[in-house]
Amino acid sequence: MSSMLVTGGAGFIGANFVLYMREKRPLDALVVLDKLTYAGNLENLKRVEGDENFLFVKGDLNDFNLIDGLFEKNGFDSVVNFAAESHVDRSILGPKTFIETNINGTFTLLEAARKHWGPGNGNKRFLHVSTDEVYGSLGEEGLFTESTPYSPNSPYAASKAASDHLVRAYYHTYGLPSITTNCSNNYGPYQFPEKLIPLMIINALNGKPLPVYGDGRNVRDWLFVHDHCTAIEAALQKGRLGETYNVGARNEWRNIDIVNLVCDTIDELVGASAESSKKIPFSGKRRKLINFVKDRPGHDRRYAIDPSKTEQELGWRPQTAFREGIRNTVKWYIENKSWWERVMSGQYLEYYEMQYKERL
Ligand code: NAD
Ligand code: TYD
Repeated sequence: MSSMLVTGGAGFIGANFVLYMREKRPLDALVVLDKLTYAGNLENLKRVEGDENFLFVKGDLNDFNLIDGLFEKNGFDSVVNFAAESHVDRSILGPKTFIETNINGTFTLLEAARKHWGPGNGNKRFLHVSTDEVYGSLGEEGLFTESTPYSPNSPYAASKAASDHLVRAYYHTYGLPSITTNCSNNYGPYQFPEKLIPLMIINALNGKPLPVYGDGRNVRDWLFVHDHCTAIEAALQKGRLGETYNVGARNEWRNIDIVNLVCDTIDELVGASAESSKKIPFSGKRRKLINFVKDRPGHDRRYAIDPSKTEQELGWRPQTAFREGIRNTVKWYIENKSWWERVMSGQYLEYYEMQYKERL
């Protein structure tokens, strides 16, 4: 039996990871530390609330004393660091919290791990969850590998790049047993409806405009969130210390093609089910809702991951085909309307207005 600290475990990927690990290893102790920002939602963890070996702690990644105490009490064998400000558009509007959480927060967590684990503690694992956005933007050709130079273009990407460098430095300087994963865009259940796919699903369900930035031809490489969770698990088990692993499914899509796919999937699913169509206010061809809007400043053109190292060293493979993953995700949002309705009240709406008032 082991003990794991998961930071940011009430957010999208963190919650999916926690639910997955609880099912897989119910006897292991798991502590979630999360500040519950606008993006953190305890409802995501309902299924494991009250489990004997599970503890939720509301707190900030920058609170050294709190994290120090958690290490003291729980003797963690591993730390998985998801906690972050994660949305590029928010980082453009206000970069400060990105610096505070992503850089200072990761530093604080590293300091706590260093204090408790010391050097030569090779059986411990500090897994830092990062993004492919640290590599910058690709042209028509080429893929990001683990040796692609960092070239971040948004405050979000720059703050994640800085945190990756700190993790690397703690391995080289202090021997902290760390591993970093750099993953492509995720989608799936529990994703906050500010990101492309859930925003399009919910707007399309509600008959609202679908704001596609610029010409809609920016390319992202999409991975179903459960496949990201299995990659993190594999990196924890088999990853070499001090290494970084790129995670992706060789699944490049232009934004406009995804929005079209989401529209068609909803048309088909809502039309096909009397039960779901009762709950959904809009019916009709959803592609008509697509609205090209002003582009994001500094919008990276293309991301694409070469996952060969992760596949070869960790024996990891994604399991979810994209169309199947999108279909299941759309179904999840149809079936969990009350989840996103609650999420979208309050602060989210204020943010939404600020973000889109000049674009629409
Ligand atoms: P998210 O925004 O959905 O969740 C972030 C979580 O961190 C929230 O629960 C939030 O409350 C918590 N948090 C924020 N600031 C905190 C602080 N100061 N202290 C403690 N908790 C805090 O993000 P996500 O999409 O689940 O991403 C998780 C991680 O994965 C991030 O590090 C992100 O950079 C990385 N990542 C995300 C994607 C993606 O497509 N979403 C892709 C690759 C990597
Ligand atoms: P997003 O989900 O914000 O992820 P990231 O910026 O981290 O890749 O955006 C994915 C792509 O979708 C990106 O190219 C921006 C675009 N996009 C839109 O066209 N409209 C939107 O309303 C949003 C949120 C994103």
